[in-house]
Amino acid sequence: NVLILDFGSQYTQLIARRVRELNIFCEIKPYNHLPEDLSIYKAVILSGSPFSVRAEDAPHPDLSQIRGKKPLLGVCYGAQYLAHFNGGSVEGSNTREYGRANLSYVKENEPFFDKISKGSQVWMSHADTIKQLPENTTRLASTHDVENAAYKFEGEETYAIQFHPEVYHSTDGKQLLENFLVHIAGVAQTWTPDAFVETTVKELKRKIGQDKVILGLSGGVDSTVAAILLHKAIGKHLHCIFVNNGLLRKNEFEDVLHQYKDMGLNVKGVDASARFLDALAGVSDPEKKRKAIGNAFIEVFDGESHLVEDAKWLAQGTIYPDVIESVSATGGPSATIKSHHNVGGLPDFMKLNVVEPLRMLFKDEVRRVGASMGVDKTLLGRHPFPGPGLAIRILGDITPEKVAILQEVDAIFINGLKEWGLYDKVWQAGAILLPVNSVGVMGDERTYEKCVALRAVESTDGMTADWVNLPYEFLQKTSNDIINKVRGVNRVVYDISSKPPATIEWE
Ligand code: XMP
Repeated sequence: NVLILDFGSQYTQLIARRVRELNIFCEIKPYNHLPEDLSIYKAVILSGSPFSVRAEDAPHPDLSQIRGKKPLLGVCYGAQYLAHFNGGSVEGSNTREYGRANLSYVKENEPFFDKISKGSQVWMSHADTIKQLPENTTRLASTHDVENAAYKFEGEETYAIQFHPEVYHSTDGKQLLENFLVHIAGVAQTWTPDAFVETTVKELKRKIGQDKVILGLSGGVDSTVAAILLHKAIGKHLHCIFVNNGLLRKNEFEDVLHQYKDMGLNVKGVDASARFLDALAGVSDPEKKRKAIGNAFIEVFDGESHLVEDAKWLAQGTIYPDVIESVSATGGPSATIKSHHNVGGLPDFMKLNVVEPLRMLFKDEVRRVGASMGVDKTLLGRHPFPGPGLAIRILGDITPEKVAILQEVDAIFINGLKEWGLYDKVWQAGAILLPVNSVGVMGDERTYEKCVALRAVESTDGMTADWVNLPYEFLQKTSNDIINKVRGVNRVVYDISSKPPATIEWE
């Protein structure tokens, strides 16, 4: 197990993902909540940070239980921290150092830089620079602008690097992490999907025994993989509920239900479309739509969960990014559904014990775990789809007619992406029904009909995203198909906005 101490960098989760890619388990903890039991960690990594070590409020945890006692790697802020508080000097640099650079010097015969040579591309992102190294250290690498790009403390396994090995643009970043964790720290590479499945199934069996578990399936990757794991552990004692909120993609309810049955899961499909559409009638405000859908879901799910007698557990597909304690106090949208309710008014299903078999996994790991259990590739490769579904892709109020139009448009777009071999190159795609009508001509008639926007983005986590440069021929064909086949639409546009400053969804 490896400990990553988070100083608030936007890249901290990436460090963890790179470490996990080496089949090494790691945990992220905030710098100000150092775990009490450090004996379980074989190595420690200090992350980057938006802070400057020169600022008065700079994070300055006591590392005396770590430094010199375990292999330690400081990245960016971590490297400056180790310099600044040990007699080195860190100063604001004249030129802010962002983006790619190449190593212009690498110390020879240095295990830390094994298989990494001069010229290797690294990614810099810092405003401060280490002007002078502390005593008893050795410079290990430089770039053109950054003399002290890497150094180590003599007589201990403490290393520091100014660049970010965790971002893909640092070409040998993974090799460097491997050098440090595997060859220097001697951490075992045993964190594999198969091992995870084996230990998790065992643990679930022990924890749940013969109790009944309820799980809400969404058709998405996380809830599906959670269900399969539980099914392996407790078989028929797992009761899955899949609610049709009437805002799914065309035929999705039937198709997904069918797929689940093929997997041997015990799934009850509940078609509550009418109830959701009723709750949404006349609602235009995006947040009110989300609330209305959330409330309707709770009512439907609560009703259904009562039909499972003596259920003791509620399973959720929560994943690691939702549970990492964040350094900034912003909280974020992952605060659980529970916080919206005072305890007395909790729906009954929320009084169940919660089991979250995926809570230590990143999304890409969930996919790998799913694959190792034989979950269908097309299911694992499905694009993310928002819980409120098409409701937040119909701008303005929602009617059954608008849902039907958008389902048709979306199906043409998504099926087209699949036919053209583009689906897997896109992180998320969908169509948006705009609240404007525009003039067109069809035959000799003037029309006054709806406009739809198509959106396709590439991303790794949805936090940042860029529009995908889809082939013009594909856009041309798709636009033609939509306008010719979907009654009520006479104009198609393609969204070319990145996130930030735009968002992926339009509401
Ligand atoms: P934005 O629009 O914020 O979306 O760039 C980022 C990712 O989050 C999804 N999204 C949601 N998912 N409930 C969800 O379950 C929501 O209310 C919601 N809003 C946005 C969006 O589809 C994208 O993947």
